[in-house]
Amino acid sequence: GEKRIIFSAIQPTGVPHLGNYLGALREWKRLQDNARPGDELIFSIVDLHAITVPRGREELVRDKTQMLAALLAIGLDPNRCTIFFQSRLAAISELQWILSCTASTGYLSRMTQWKAGHGLFSYPILMAADILVHRATHVPVGDDQCQHLEFARECVTNFNHTYKTDCLVAPETLVSPAKRIMSLTDPTKKMSKSDPAPKSRLLLTDTREDIASRINGAVTDSAGPVTYDPVRRPGVANLLEILSGFDSDGRTPQQLAEAMAGEGMAELKRAVKTALCEDLGEIRDKYLQFLGREALLAEIEADGMRKARASAATTMRDVSDAVGL
Ligand code: ADP
Ligand code: NA
Repeated sequence: GEKRIIFSAIQPTGVPHLGNYLGALREWKRLQDNARPGDELIFSIVDLHAITVPRGREELVRDKTQMLAALLAIGLDPNRCTIFFQSRLAAISELQWILSCTASTGYLSRMTQWKAGHGLFSYPILMAADILVHRATHVPVGDDQCQHLEFARECVTNFNHTYKTDCLVAPETLVSPAKRIMSLTDPTKKMSKSDPAPKSRLLLTDTREDIASRINGAVTDSAGPVTYDPVRRPGVANLLEILSGFDSDGRTPQQLAEAMAGEGMAELKRAVKTALCEDLGEIRDKYLQFLGREALLAEIEADGMRKARASAATTMRDVSDAVGL
């Protein structure tokens, strides 16, 4: 079959929340576990993206370590995939500059988010470089990132056309059955790290007590027994979505609602707490073990960096040759 190079990335935002896990990271684990022979998996912790909005040094260093430990704790295996910190691969910044010379500014200017430095303006080019430097063929992304991926393909077209080459590869979007998890305190908003209400989210490393209090406090409604109706009952639907994410039989939220027919909020919350405590308890234990093993983390980081550099080297040789650098 065709050789796939699968690339995805996450910002170093510390311990991931349930939305990051069910919406992105668990898909990475699934891709690893279901990898076909010849598949290559590359996962980047994108610390250069993280500084588009500058924050404290100590916080960034801590959040990077926590993210690495969390990726290992959910079961990503450095022997089966490449996990590395973006900033350790200088070729990405080099390729970003080269791409920016043939990138059109239209898309960048239309993005409204850029209130800060120039870095945020050219963020999509950095993201393109992340992907293209590995000649990734498949990129699993959330729906919020699809436009950026389209822009990355445009970067490939512009570059290859300008330099009459085919050395950059246009990546395909890998559509995953990822879930969107909503805030526990306002189920009309997505669960997010940046939500000022800490009770709106659950972290992968929360204790049994945290899990109990977050789920007990989750906003539902008093419209009677459990039904799946995301529009009129978003809080109930969100709990069913979470339950479905951990269901060993892989049932959909709708199927779970049918299985619970006649039962109330207390039963639903009990089922969610049981499921979460079981699966997250294991992740939490592993996370704490990894966090305590600094030498091992450093070794994994160095090894990931070496593999990422080797993967980028061939691309950059061809890119430099095509441009005449
Ligand atoms: P946050 O919104 O907490 O800052 P990010 O924007 O850094 O999270 O997203 C990191 C990854 O997690 C992305 O792939 C994104 O699609 C996914 N993700 C974030 N929040 C959710 C959510 N509530 N439900 C599903 N996926 C999510
Ligand atoms: Na975000």
